[in-house]
Amino acid sequence: MPSPEASLIRLLQAACSGELAAGYAYRGHARSVKSAADRARLRTIESEEWHHRALVQGLLMELGARPRPVREAVFWLIGHGIGLLCRLGGWFVPMYGAGKLERTNIVEYEDAARFAAASGHEDMIECLLEMAEVEWEHERFFRERVAGHWMLRLFPKWEAPPPKEAIRSCYGNLNELQQLSESRQASPADSSRARG
Ligand SMILES: [Fe+2]
Ligand SMILES: [Fe+2]
Repeated sequence: MPSPEASLIRLLQAACSGELAAGYAYRGHARSVKSAADRARLRTIESEEWHHRALVQGLLMELGARPRPVREAVFWLIGHGIGLLCRLGGWFVPMYGAGKLERTNIVEYEDAARFAAASGHEDMIECLLEMAEVEWEHERFFRERVAGHWMLRLFPKWEAPPPKEAIRSCYGNLNELQQLSESRQASPADSSRARG
């Protein structure tokens, strides 16, 4: 079974490529909508995905890891492909597909935060939970936009996430966790003893 740190790296590599695809997909999606309000929100979401990608790249670097080149290439193609299809797929399908994907993105960063906690990288938890919270807002936007659309009779609505507060409810005092992590980094010998 992979260690929590190996699982964290694997998940961050997946997230890094996912953010790349999301960035290009939302760029195409923004170009495909007529409503100026939708376009503005999609552009904001795109910029938040690029910000996530930069954060995830930084976390990978801290862990001594890098994005996986083949996965990056595949997701670059996927992102451009979806961006192009958004112009052909009408209004509903891109909104629906994005909402479903954002739902999984919340869980991806929640899982990453759990692996960070389990592998002694408590200093990464705050960043990962913040990204989960931003994905929660993305999912809400798409869920609200498709609400009441007649095509939901053909495409069943995905399960709504728990309330946003639930994302960090099990982490208690994050400052304490961060201090613990900093003290471990300051004295690695002590921390390895403490972990036994
Ligand atoms: Fe993201
Ligand atoms: Fe997102």
